[in-house]
Amino acid sequence: MFILSAFFQSPPTVTIDFTKPGIAVSRELYGLMTEEINYSYDGGLYAELIRNRAFMDDAKGPSHWTTVDGSTITLEKSGPTEARPMALKFEKGVANDGYWGFPIKPNSTYQLSIWVKAEGKTSLKASLESADGATVYAKGELKDIEGGWKNVKTTFKTARNQAEMIAPRFVLRNTTSTPVSLAQVSLFPPTYKKVENGFRIDLMDRMAQMNPKFLRFPGGNYLEGNTLNDYFPWKTTLGPIEGRPGHRSPWGYRSTDGMGLAEFLRWCEDLRAKPVLAVYAGYALNGQYTKPGPDLVKWVDYALEEIEYLIGGPETKWGAARIKNGHPKPYDLEYVEVGNEDGFDKSGSYPERFNQFFDAIKAKYPKIKVIASTGGKDWLGAKFPITARPVDAVDEHYYSTAWEMMSMATKYDSYDRKGPKIFVGEWAAHTGKAPWEAGPNAGPTPDMTSAVADAAFMTGMERNSDIVVMQCYAPLFVNANPGGRQWSLNLIGYDALNTFGAPSYYGQVMFGQNVGDRTVPARLSNVPQVTEGDKALPGMFTSVTMDSKSKYVYLKLVNALAVPRSIMLDLKGAEVEPGGTLTMLSGQPADVNSLAEPKKVYPVKTTVLGLKAGYEQKMPAHSIAVLKMRLK
Ligand code: AHR
Repeated sequence: MFILSAFFQSPPTVTIDFTKPGIAVSRELYGLMTEEINYSYDGGLYAELIRNRAFMDDAKGPSHWTTVDGSTITLEKSGPTEARPMALKFEKGVANDGYWGFPIKPNSTYQLSIWVKAEGKTSLKASLESADGATVYAKGELKDIEGGWKNVKTTFKTARNQAEMIAPRFVLRNTTSTPVSLAQVSLFPPTYKKVENGFRIDLMDRMAQMNPKFLRFPGGNYLEGNTLNDYFPWKTTLGPIEGRPGHRSPWGYRSTDGMGLAEFLRWCEDLRAKPVLAVYAGYALNGQYTKPGPDLVKWVDYALEEIEYLIGGPETKWGAARIKNGHPKPYDLEYVEVGNEDGFDKSGSYPERFNQFFDAIKAKYPKIKVIASTGGKDWLGAKFPITARPVDAVDEHYYSTAWEMMSMATKYDSYDRKGPKIFVGEWAAHTGKAPWEAGPNAGPTPDMTSAVADAAFMTGMERNSDIVVMQCYAPLFVNANPGGRQWSLNLIGYDALNTFGAPSYYGQVMFGQNVGDRTVPARLSNVPQVTEGDKALPGMFTSVTMDSKSKYVYLKLVNALAVPRSIMLDLKGAEVEPGGTLTMLSGQPADVNSLAEPKKVYPVKTTVLGLKAGYEQKMPAHSIAVLKMRLK
């Protein structure tokens, strides 16, 4: 795709100027963006294994449940509560197919909890098993079931020598002929930090590697939903799971809301990341909106109460609710975002809606920084700038071709420093069709060309992180099974058992793990160009930061050229120790990682000797490098 347009004799050179002060790097530059898309929570991070656990996914029938042993099975509206209105009645047995199967690992304990009623006395046998039932990987029994609705729990375990695999079904078998009804079936494998209603361990580990400083949640389109009734209903996502009705998400499947507000906040704390709370702002994806003024007050109040849940004291209604929920300490809330991509609201109501939220939030919580979901200089934001309030930050989104992304590497160099800060709250480079147009068979994760373009863009954000205070790639997760995605290019893929990171994921890891507190001015010279049609760009990109205390210097280099080149170090005003570490990511432009080949593109860490002015760092074609050095 990119053609080397010229060949230079003198090597490309990176001049790092320690005589100039640089700028402070935002502590929150590298973070995460999340929403329920591509089975990110249900069928993803949220470790629940039973699909359609409350039988509410489809009013027409018990989807993902089938009969076993020729049992009768009926979906009825006879559940115990408003939040659990449905029940599955059967005589002999029922099976669930999970989110594309169930993870089987050695020595794993599963927690089973069901809401059940039975006409007579019975017990239920539970098993994770092969499709024909001939092989059982783990089994347990729920005893003494009799009478009206009650919650019954048990645990069961796989053997120490059990091979890892995906089991196709979970089965409940009745041991007598008395009819049994279920209102909820929940099965959890071991979770991150062994927490109830918890998260997948492998996905938490993947995110921890990125060293994220914040989490933007709950969306994305998932914050708003398709109609004015489909917003993220944070109040009904709190408390025991059987009290959560769930809601319709905009991405084609119902959300259990097992991943509720308290779980998002736990996720933040587990990763030591700050919550960037997006509050619903009265706009739906179908274009409906709530008029600013008296009509909007209910949504402003809804947002204020949500903030109160996070930081209110024990004397407040929602602060007390948080404490009752087991979290006495207020959460570390600094940023609140009003809505998501409200530039799509063609009525142009957003600036006024934003002002109403801004005034109310600032009046009650003057320290909170309020982010506008649009109004920046991306294609959407420019339409409806926010001018009447001193916005703390504007959220810019870029889903761009690899070429466009590389061309944006210098975008922020000339941004107005007097305006609001920038939060690049969703962005990703793509090759081929745009991720929302590519169809369900494309992807699920980007290739090396995209990773190089992403890294080029990140050098620009890092160099300008006095103004770009936060950035996060999107979407974060994808269930890689057929039918598991609505967006073709995503950072981390998985099935029930395994995960993998895209080349872009490793770029994020390398950038997130290697960043100082100040930039060091750096300039590339003698850089060959890359061209596309009649357009040309420099083929290499850089950013340098330094940790003022430890004196570590992080030199990031990106080679978008189709040929290997060396880059020479030119140091002004300081010398470096001869030893350092190099982390290098390189691959063919079309290389992707996958469940079958998770490490096709993988960073390699080596020790480097001989670092000094004049040192030449070899950069393979299509590569991203971080050279960690230390000042003498
Ligand atoms: O990241 C996928 C979607 O892209 C988000 O939900 C939305 O905010 C954007 O349009």
